[in-house]
Amino acid sequence: MKLLVALACMFVSCLAKEPSPCKGPPLLTGKLYIQSHNDHITASGGYVYDAIGERVRLTEVVILDNQTHKADVLMDYKKQVLYDIHVQNKTCKKFPLKSEFIPLNVPGNATFMSQFILGDASYPGDGLLVNTWTGDLPKKEGKFYITVTDSRCAPVSLTYPDQQFGWLQISYLDNVVGITDPSLLIPPSFCPEDDSSLKGEPMGLIKFLKQRK
Ligand SMILES: *[C@@H]1O[C@H](CO)[C@@H](O)[C@H](O)[C@H]1NC(C)=O
Ligand SMILES: *[C@@H]1O[C@H](CO)[C@@H](O)[C@H](O)[C@H]1NC(C)=O
Ligand SMILES: *[C@@H]1O[C@H](CO)[C@@H](O)[C@H](O)[C@H]1NC(C)=O
Repeated sequence: MKLLVALACMFVSCLAKEPSPCKGPPLLTGKLYIQSHNDHITASGGYVYDAIGERVRLTEVVILDNQTHKADVLMDYKKQVLYDIHVQNKTCKKFPLKSEFIPLNVPGNATFMSQFILGDASYPGDGLLVNTWTGDLPKKEGKFYITVTDSRCAPVSLTYPDQQFGWLQISYLDNVVGITDPSLLIPPSFCPEDDSSLKGEPMGLIKFLKQRK
């Protein structure tokens, strides 16, 4: 019996192939869950991710605190602009963005860390095979850790040190390839266009969420 188990394990490990670096889908829509460890900020909401235009929209963000606060934000990483959007009263503020775009990919020179199954490994269809990798952030301001699905490189979670606010962990849920509503990546018409309105201290997502708390 022991021999049989040992043989079965060998057979399984023979089948398991070494994961390779991979590119995730460039356009994604879904939900996310953000945790900032240093600031004890926890938030969840919808997201739209565009790796080509380097834009991310977070909708119906709920900051989970003793009270909950809502937010809607569009980040344009190429222009380094953050829009604080209030759809109900059609107001919008524009801030300088201080944050780098982190593509949801496993770059070719990333280091493989581990492979594991999320959920239950004992029943087919109840477990998800994922791989965790680490690499340097684009501006080398620390290391990122990314977990992606083994089959299609869809993001599961991303952990990285935010330039201003320490470790940030983002979990990606209900991901769907593509962008269901492209207008979400364009600043609404009631947002200021001119850069003279770009006032205030540059901020990243966590600072934005902190101010909203
Ligand atoms: C939340 O409420 C608890 C208990 O009422 C309190 O101890 C804590 O300081 C509150 N946290 C914040 C961030 O206000
Ligand atoms: C619009 O609504 C937001 C929150 O709902 C509020 O903070 C802001 O002051 C409002 N702006 C104006 C001009 O009423
Ligand atoms: C991988 O390549 C990128 C860009 O070419 C570089 O910035 C980074 O330092 C390299 N090393 C790691 C471990 O990511």
